[in-house]
Amino acid sequence: MEYLRHLLILCLLGYVSSSVTVQEYVDKLLVNTNNKIATIESNPELVNRIYHYFKEQYSQEHSNKLVDFKRSKRVEIFKSNLKYVIEHNENPSTTFKLKLNEMSDWTDNERDQLRTNIQNGPVNTKEPVESRDEVIVPDEFDWTNQTRVPYAVTPVKNQRHCGSCYAFAMVGALEKTYAELYNQSGPLSPQELIDCSDANGCEGGSFEDTFNYVQRNGDKISLEKDYPSTSDGKQNEKCLRTNQTTLSLNPKYRLQYEQLQTENEDHMKKVLYHRGPIYFSFNCGKREGNDTMLRDVSNKFDHYASGVFDVPGCPTHRNMNHALVIVGYGTENGVEFWKVKNSWGATWGDHGYLKIKRNDNMCGIATWPYYTGLF
Ligand SMILES: *[C@@H]1O[C@H](CO)[C@@H](O)[C@H](O)[C@H]1NC(C)=O
Ligand SMILES: *[C@@H]1O[C@H](CO)[C@@H](O)[C@H](O)[C@H]1NC(C)=O
Ligand SMILES: *[C@@H]1O[C@H](CO)[C@@H](O)[C@H](O)[C@H]1NC(C)=O
Ligand SMILES: *[C@@H]1O[C@H](CO)[C@@H](O)[C@H](O)[C@H]1NC(C)=O
Repeated sequence: MEYLRHLLILCLLGYVSSSVTVQEYVDKLLVNTNNKIATIESNPELVNRIYHYFKEQYSQEHSNKLVDFKRSKRVEIFKSNLKYVIEHNENPSTTFKLKLNEMSDWTDNERDQLRTNIQNGPVNTKEPVESRDEVIVPDEFDWTNQTRVPYAVTPVKNQRHCGSCYAFAMVGALEKTYAELYNQSGPLSPQELIDCSDANGCEGGSFEDTFNYVQRNGDKISLEKDYPSTSDGKQNEKCLRTNQTTLSLNPKYRLQYEQLQTENEDHMKKVLYHRGPIYFSFNCGKREGNDTMLRDVSNKFDHYASGVFDVPGCPTHRNMNHALVIVGYGTENGVEFWKVKNSWGATWGDHGYLKIKRNDNMCGIATWPYYTGLF
């Protein structure tokens, strides 16, 4: 009986338009099912059908898949992610939701390719010197939705199959300065930083590697239109810089940076509001190896959909393997959060963004924060 009912639902869903996301497709399919996990376990054809829909949705997308892997193995991976997402979303005590996405049938190795080594020096333990007019800040602020500096945040980018998050985070932090100078939307070129700076191309880098490069060039960097990304995100064989744009028009101010005090999220909030977006490195988990905490963090991060990301016990001083930008802060259902811009495309997460729990140094968000701008 249960099986027949599924067949019926499957037939009806045969007509759904392709604008339905994979997660919406699954949610509709299982809406009246009591034990969703058992239903998935006992219905291989149901899983196949969902996988088929998933493949259709992502057939147009750039494929990040590295290895030729048997389809049946990919279905197994997909099924385990499907169950993980359903179980998580059924838990009423969690502050965020997950969704199936492009990565849901990737191997551990493929998912780890998006992670990279972020080199960090010592943390900064020095108490910040705050000027009087930096003390007052509103309870919430969002650089993506404000009128002080139009275009401070550009549309979400996609680093594709390259461990170049550090370059995307750097331009994400600099684009507010560009917008302030030129009153237009930058998009600045992460590809220039990947190809030309001292960072390690697709193998990671540090904040300083890319900052020093821009500074050495007289505070100049190319616009994305003048130095576009490669189609697969990979590093070019050589630096192809031809036309850079300056970020310091007034000789009184130079492009500088400040490494903010570690684990001082109150100060980060003031810097974010008064000065601009904050670059930080983050532990977004690890697929390979047997560290179950890191595997759990990666499952949740990769499949994040909405709400406030909170994984209690997530390590704060090790496995720093992603770099992102904080663009705002606020409170949702009583939980304080940072609004963060990722570089995994606009279909990842919440339109390319995520909210991360604030005032808990979640996964190291407050361990190595940086601000860069003109001062
Ligand atoms: C933008 O900000 C306004 C005013 O604070 C708010 O009403 C609106 O919901 C915000 N929009 C988005 C998309 O966050
Ligand atoms: C910035 O550009 C917008 C149009 O995109 C214009 O309406 C506004 O007046 C400009 N602001 C300044 C300060 O020039
Ligand atoms: C160089 O970049 C500036 C700013 O984007 C643009 O106005 C100019 O046309 C570009 N020149 C060339 C030769 O591409
Ligand atoms: C985890 O793997 C490492 C080596 O890869 C091994 O030394 C260690 O014993 C393993 N730990 C557990 C709990 O299995």
